[in-house]
Amino acid sequence: EYPKQVRIVEVGPRDGLQNEKELVPTDVKIEFINRLSQTGHQSVEVTSFVSPKWVPQLADHAEVMRGIKRVKGVSYPVLTPNIKGFEAAIAAGCEEVAIFGAASESFSQKNINCSIAESLERFQDVMNAANKMGIRVRGYVSCVCGCPYEGPVDPKMVAKVAYAMYQMGCYEISLGDTIGVGTPGSMRRMLEEVMTLLPPDVLAVHCHDTYGQALPNILTALQMGISVVDASVAGLGGCPYAQGASGNVATEDVVYMLDGLQIETGVDLDKLIDAGNYICKILNRPNYSKVSCAKTKC
Ligand code: HMG
Ligand code: MG
Repeated sequence: EYPKQVRIVEVGPRDGLQNEKELVPTDVKIEFINRLSQTGHQSVEVTSFVSPKWVPQLADHAEVMRGIKRVKGVSYPVLTPNIKGFEAAIAAGCEEVAIFGAASESFSQKNINCSIAESLERFQDVMNAANKMGIRVRGYVSCVCGCPYEGPVDPKMVAKVAYAMYQMGCYEISLGDTIGVGTPGSMRRMLEEVMTLLPPDVLAVHCHDTYGQALPNILTALQMGISVVDASVAGLGGCPYAQGASGNVATEDVVYMLDGLQIETGVDLDKLIDAGNYICKILNRPNYSKVSCAKTKC
């Protein structure tokens, strides 16, 4: 009943680094992404073309994008909230972008400074431009299991926003438990609602591990037919506009679990562990992957 293969979207360089207070040197980001590209990953999210006033850490987006050594067969999506970001991304050579909305009005306002309806209009502009150029667009919906400002979020609202983004032309919708409050129970109820409108093969899950529920939540999604999982090496990350939200599920832990389920990912766990240890050492930060800690005795 589990999928035979799972595609992992590595979000460490973007979600993982966006919340780091001290600026990470551009060459470190490039080396980090290059290492992740050598692990067997099919998708490595590189950066965000957002306002440097809002997310100073990613102000070097164009340099990073231009500096990485692209590996054939790996896609390198970047976040683009509006047409300005999209144009800058294209100028830097991006071939895949992601638009990011939310199922909660307050979070939409805090994160991208506009309502959900306004955000969908901006995304439509991005989509129109992307379609003309043959650029693939991924869609994120945040706060699918809860909002840092509004608390519980209605699964019907998640379904509505996810469906709008899919109808617009996103090839995949990543459902973000931004603050990691979901449990296998609320995750299942939310996914059941979304799946009344969208098939599981266009969905991904993006679980932050704030409450330690990310792995069981992912397992629940796999049981329901979802086969794309976002994860961040060493469990880095958090959203600057969701206070207290800790990192994504650690990619190493996801790969270990999938290996055990005999689900193919194509990712080499040892190389992944090395990439995670590389960045943690430079950031002088603990490695939040339990698997990495167990295997490297940290
Ligand atoms: P705004 O201030 O409303 O935008 O920001 P504006 O159109 O009014 O423009 C204001 C200024 O920003 C202008 O510059 C624009 O040129 C500039 P000024 O004239 O003041 O010098 N600007 C831009 N600069 C660079 N790139 C752009 C851009 N757009 C406008 N694309 C905006 C709106 C969306 C830009 C802003 O709110 C923003 O940058 N937000 C950052 C949001 C963000 O990156 N959040 C974290 C990622 S989302 C996430 O982590 C969740 C996720 O992981 C899933 C999950 O976990 O749930 C994806
Ligand atoms: Mg996130």
